[in-house]
Amino acid sequence: MARMADRTLPPLPEPDPVSSASIRRALAQNLGADSLLGVRSVPIPSARPGRKGKEKRLKVLDEEQVKSCTKCGLAKTRHKTVFGQGHGAARLVFVGEAPGADEDRQGLAFVGRAGKLLTDMIHAMGLTREEVFICNVLKCRPPNNREPAPDEIRSCSPYLMEQLSIIEPEVIVTLGAPATRLLLNTDESIGRLRGRFHEFYLSDQPGESAAIPLMPTYHPAYLLRSPGEKKKTWADLKMVLAHLGLPVPAR
Ligand code: URA
Repeated sequence: MARMADRTLPPLPEPDPVSSASIRRALAQNLGADSLLGVRSVPIPSARPGRKGKEKRLKVLDEEQVKSCTKCGLAKTRHKTVFGQGHGAARLVFVGEAPGADEDRQGLAFVGRAGKLLTDMIHAMGLTREEVFICNVLKCRPPNNREPAPDEIRSCSPYLMEQLSIIEPEVIVTLGAPATRLLLNTDESIGRLRGRFHEFYLSDQPGESAAIPLMPTYHPAYLLRSPGEKKKTWADLKMVLAHLGLPVPAR
């Protein structure tokens, strides 16, 4: 499908803000209370924030907490933290695994080879990177691109939860196993989870937050190694477009 770079998405509905405290409670159930140490929620202004307010809160989270984070050993080996980037009130958020070498050097998410494929996928959806938000479970690169360790995920995931609570997306796409397993609290494989929407709750309090539809799909780095699987990811992304009420390419 042709790229539509200057197209704006339909206006966002205004969801009720959910307190980050309840997200942190939910996370505590998944990860253990020690994971919550040291991450401060970014205050919700009394006036409901739109894009500008959300971007300001994201900037505060990045500059006052993520950039200076020393909660795990990756602080010693990173060059730059990688907060993620995109629209502060994005309807759609992509969550990957962790920065690689290019991302670590530039401080930006998904800018290497896998990032180029992700960009192509976003363009094929008729969207631009600026219209969505792209981030990772880990904000620092694991040496030699090894898999994130459980303690690193425990330390870092409160930042992701805070990002999601600020952005309040309509749909989350998780790229690969670490993001999917963290947000869905499961050990199931991507192969079994992809292809349908799951529910992610910002709050563990019944009725306090609506379910956010979450579509797991393959990580672009996996798709580079197994291009035959690309059509499955494309099918997943077309379901996301349909859910958002956006045009779905015929193929
Ligand atoms: N892989 C990821 O999961 N995230 C990035 O930012 C880059 C590669």
